[in-house]
Amino acid sequence: MSWLKTAATGKEPEPYVEPASEPKVKDASGRMVANKPANRPFLAHKEYQDKQKQLHEAWLERKKIRDEKIARGEEVGPEEKDPTAQQEIGAFGLFKFFLCLIIFAALAGKFFTGSYTWDYQGKWVQLKTYLPEGNQRLFSERLLAEFDGSKPGRPIYLAIDGDVYDVTKGKAYQPGGSYHLLTGVDAARAFATGCFKDHRTHDLRGLSEKDLDGIKHWKKFYAEHKDYFKVGRVSHPPIDPASPIPEHCDPKKAAKSKEKQSPDKQDKKAQQDRDEL
Ligand code: HEM
Repeated sequence: MSWLKTAATGKEPEPYVEPASEPKVKDASGRMVANKPANRPFLAHKEYQDKQKQLHEAWLERKKIRDEKIARGEEVGPEEKDPTAQQEIGAFGLFKFFLCLIIFAALAGKFFTGSYTWDYQGKWVQLKTYLPEGNQRLFSERLLAEFDGSKPGRPIYLAIDGDVYDVTKGKAYQPGGSYHLLTGVDAARAFATGCFKDHRTHDLRGLSEKDLDGIKHWKKFYAEHKDYFKVGRVSHPPIDPASPIPEHCDPKKAAKSKEKQSPDKQDKKAQQDRDEL
């Protein structure tokens, strides 16, 4: 702020003169410098370097004596490591580095957002994601139905092709939500057909390859979703092969698939093909 003083008083500031009493010491390059606070970090580093050099030289001396003893065939103790050698980082060093980074990020999160996870509450910060699958439950269809969101305080589960997921965080699954009908049940068929009311079943008979691919897509969707957890499997009683295949909710599609499945129709088509030949 000397320019401010100059502007106020009109006088040039006096040049800085180092106090005569300031003791002088050697710096890293051998110059004599004042031991004033501004120089101290550099001087401390110089002191450290000198100490390291001394340690290294003492170690070299001990090593030389040891080597001479070995040459004379005398017994020696275990080899001493150079105390000034740079430590290798290694896997443990990397682990420590990442641990410090995570702790730092968590503390910063707490400071800026009030949450150690920066307000992220997805499955990657939940302990159950890392628990082995062995901890998962086997549901009966009746038990699964208890988790359709109608009972306050209970989580919401849905199943797809046997896998049960906790979808409590999905808005669409809450009572009144657009996909509430998929909860508390294994409605794998509905995932393929879109018949959410009529196809609340795991019965996949008569579906095309494309339909089955659709189910695979949704299975992957739930398995990889950041907010949903697999909580177990549902066991279904076997499907009676003599029971009728569930009809499509769209009458046109229902008629089409009926046509495909009808044995009469298939016989007629086979006859037609034979006639054409
Ligand atoms: C086979 C047909 C369909 C199936 C199986 C299906 C399935 C689903 C499922 C499972 C979700 C929930 C995803 C989540 O957990 O976030 C979803 C969300 C959604 N679907 Fe569909 N869907 C179908 C057709 C449609 C159609 C035709 C429309 C549009 C007219 C539509 C519009 C939506 C919308 C807007 C959402 C977001 C809902 C929300 O998060 O509140 N879907 N769909």
